[in-house]
Amino acid sequence: MAAGQTRYSLAVTALIVNFASVFAAQQPHIVFILADDFGWYDVGYHSSEIRTPHLDRLSAGGVRLENYYVQPLCSPSRNQLMTGRYQIHTGMQHQIIWPCQPYCVPLEEKLLPQLMKEVGYATHMVGKWHLGMYKEDCLPTRRGFDTYFGYLTGSEDYYTHIRCSPISALNLTRCALDLREGEEVATGYKGVYSTELLSKRAISIIEKHNPDKPLFLYVALQAVHAPLQVPERYVAPYTFIRDHDRRLYAGMVSAMDEAVGNITRTLQQRGLWDDTVLVFSTDNGGQTLSGGSNWPLRGRKWSLWEGGVRGVGFVASPLLKQTGTVSRELIHISDWLPTLGHLAGASTTGTKPLDGFNVWDTISKGFASPRLELLHNIDPLYIDIAPCPGRERQLTLAQVVGDSWAKSGFNVSIHAAIRILNWKLLTGYPGCDIWFPRPGHNGSESGPSEADPLKPVMLFDIEKDPEERNDVSDQFPVVVDYLLSRLHQYQKSASPINFPDDDPRCDPGPTGAWGPWA
Ligand SMILES: *[C@@H]1O[C@H](CO)[C@@H](O)[C@H](O)[C@H]1NC(C)=O
Ligand SMILES: *[C@@H]1O[C@H](CO)[C@@H](O)[C@H](O)[C@H]1NC(C)=O
Ligand SMILES: *[C@@H]1O[C@H](CO)[C@@H](O)[C@H](O)[C@H]1NC(C)=O
Ligand SMILES: *[C@@H]1O[C@H](CO)[C@@H](O)[C@H](O)[C@H]1NC(C)=O
Repeated sequence: MAAGQTRYSLAVTALIVNFASVFAAQQPHIVFILADDFGWYDVGYHSSEIRTPHLDRLSAGGVRLENYYVQPLCSPSRNQLMTGRYQIHTGMQHQIIWPCQPYCVPLEEKLLPQLMKEVGYATHMVGKWHLGMYKEDCLPTRRGFDTYFGYLTGSEDYYTHIRCSPISALNLTRCALDLREGEEVATGYKGVYSTELLSKRAISIIEKHNPDKPLFLYVALQAVHAPLQVPERYVAPYTFIRDHDRRLYAGMVSAMDEAVGNITRTLQQRGLWDDTVLVFSTDNGGQTLSGGSNWPLRGRKWSLWEGGVRGVGFVASPLLKQTGTVSRELIHISDWLPTLGHLAGASTTGTKPLDGFNVWDTISKGFASPRLELLHNIDPLYIDIAPCPGRERQLTLAQVVGDSWAKSGFNVSIHAAIRILNWKLLTGYPGCDIWFPRPGHNGSESGPSEADPLKPVMLFDIEKDPEERNDVSDQFPVVVDYLLSRLHQYQKSASPINFPDDDPRCDPGPTGAWGPWA
């Protein structure tokens, strides 16, 4: 009896050990590279005049996501990536987190690296956080990352790593360092170009990593967000670009492309690549004020037009079942948490209700996307902080009152957009609505740039009309009614907006660094 029990428990132990090792072998390394403000027309494989040989080659051997969506702004996109939830469900539907605002992604949200850590991953983050830092509990190292090296705010100087920001309550503009090693201020990197600094850190993490343990590495590059700064050698190939900003921007893209090439080469050299899933994504559309382009799409960063939300993205991995393909299935940045969590064998039972879908079979095998609907956003407080010249056509309530759509229950003067299958509905003022000409070409060569006056409710068939030129709301009133009712339902589920006033205690003083103050 006793002997039998021992044999039995030994067998069970062996089974568990076996199971664990099989399980571990199946957990891929996951490397997520997020570019900042990288526009639709700024990647080589979208026929850009900018050369991105590494992105082109990697994506050509992987799966290019050509119906892939992100949020129109930095903090919201990162928020959805890390939580798998729409920003209306975290109270973060309005704008970005400014350096002195005392809030962060709600602490009760469980973030992607926490899920990874629970199933044995080593979790590392390099680069831009921008998910709030007013108190220590908000920092990446308290939210699931074993290590962190990067900056906490939204932008800064690429060489000095100094961020200047007005502090309204103190009537001053403060310039201070924003760079951290873990939770400590990192000095000694002055003069090192951010793209090289961050990619070298990513490389050193890969080099030190024990390949027997699964790796989750999140590299949130500063490139290619303003300010336009880049070492001369990256700009040299672009003398043919006459526009000064576009030329510098092109150089910044080249540096970023090289960084991605360096990171993947290291994964290969260290023997990790065969078990790696690499995701590359932008965080939002390109910023046309700072060299970016989303041609031929309408609008830009900070708008709900396709130029703001249709993102460059791809997956490269030897673990894909089909490679060298283009996916035209609907995929959104909130889908990464359930998708990567699934690959890691992580449980999502501890998260709040997810808005994202596991799209691994869609990417890997070409199956239809489980995502049929996508809420782009609902933001009743929206303002365009950089309206396009002469084009700020904010809709007045007067235009809306008496509008036949008022019966839907959704207030159509609210800035909002939703997509179902091929249909996209926009309400309120969607943001800068220009078709910016193709870089290096003048307006007349780039097709008509004049638009009909904006209406409070507009409907586009995005599959037929990705440039959003023909509003078909009058032809498809039933579709409009249905999409408005969906917006109405989403709005009922929204958390109150959290967008606090600046806290003057954020001031790092003349010699300090930006960081937690509360
Ligand atoms: C804010 O600072 C500026 C420049 O130092 C000064 O001219 C102005 O009077 C100040 N305003 C207030 C309200 O203190
Ligand atoms: C890529 O690696 C090469 C060779 O090590 C190095 O010279 C270059 O600076 C790296 N580029 C970036 C952007 O880190
Ligand atoms: C509709 O939304 C707009 C914009 O958010 C707001 O100014 C207005 O008060 C709202 N109207 C009603 C009736 O709630
Ligand atoms: C635009 O480009 C076309 C073709 O190169 C040229 O003929 C035209 O003069 C240009 N227009 C302007 C306003 O520069």
